[in-house]
Amino acid sequence: MFRLFFMMPVIICLYEIVSLILPLKISLWIKLLMSLILFAGLGKFFAYRMTPSGFEIYEIPHFVTLILSGIFSFIICALFMLLLKDAIFILWKIFIRAKFPGHYASLTILIIASLSTLYGVYQGVRVPDVITHEVKIPGLGKDLDGLKVAMIVDIHTSMLNRREFVSSVVEKVNSLEPDVILIPGDFVDGSVKARYTDLEPISQLKAKYGVFGVTGNHEYYFDLQGWLKTIKDFGVRLLENEHVEISSGDAKLIIAGVPDPTGGNHNTQLALEGVDENLPVILMDHQPRFARENSEHNIALQVSGHTHGGQMPIVRYLIQRANNGFVRGWYDVNNMKLYVSPGTSQWDGFIIRLFDNSEISLFILKP
Ligand SMILES: [Fe+2]
Repeated sequence: MFRLFFMMPVIICLYEIVSLILPLKISLWIKLLMSLILFAGLGKFFAYRMTPSGFEIYEIPHFVTLILSGIFSFIICALFMLLLKDAIFILWKIFIRAKFPGHYASLTILIIASLSTLYGVYQGVRVPDVITHEVKIPGLGKDLDGLKVAMIVDIHTSMLNRREFVSSVVEKVNSLEPDVILIPGDFVDGSVKARYTDLEPISQLKAKYGVFGVTGNHEYYFDLQGWLKTIKDFGVRLLENEHVEISSGDAKLIIAGVPDPTGGNHNTQLALEGVDENLPVILMDHQPRFARENSEHNIALQVSGHTHGGQMPIVRYLIQRANNGFVRGWYDVNNMKLYVSPGTSQWDGFIIRLFDNSEISLFILKP
């Protein structure tokens, strides 16, 4: 299975050389150069896979990361179009039996996939917009009516998302003057030593009632204990199967959090232990796939990330299937509301975003 996963990108790359590059009426040297560019995009993928974590990042310059990740995004983007083209090619050969215009078909795909990749990569690396959601929270007291809860998730600080990006996000969040800030996981990709300075701007986040977070799966791929300490030092209160109560006048709200299941200690029951059943609860759970189990507890709203909204069509469908049907946006799960954020950024191995912009979420809570 592992070997297949390892070989799959090579098979895809070889397929694209045969289906996309060879039919083009261009010189052999240009075909060779294009093939090498495709293989260069795979180089970074293999560099990841050969590390113990499978996600560890070698310290390579920002623009190299951008170019290689861009090529990898192109490979995935072109793949679906080529599969469609070759399905048409087979039908053409069976029913029409004339010469297939392979050059024009491949050229069209090359142009569309290149433009889609350029646009998608731009969407993937830019500082996201703020998207406001008004949420009705049953049982919310009048004194907390209009509470502003900002959420950023899947920041994935990396060689691509450096300090400048994180600072811009922090500035945008602070400009909302939020009462509460939630960060449900995937803060970083890399060691504390390598990424400390890049993530440091989150220490500037300001909210009346505090900044709360939980771990995502990517925190477990590196120095977990080092990151837990560092994130806490940066002023984020990590909720590890625990909750806090915030109040204004007579109104109270519970913010609870569970660590990512990768650590093996994801426990919603424990996180809510001792909570008065009449109080409204917001739960942070990095991955949305436990929403049905979580809905058996007294939770008004679960917020998650992890899926990055699928990042592009077709991939979105696969990600949705891998996450129990939850991929992006609002869901009603029994009596619980679930919001799956498309993420504030994404893992730098796959950076394209088509029809799936990242976001900084702002929830306005209403009784
Ligand atoms: Fe994640």
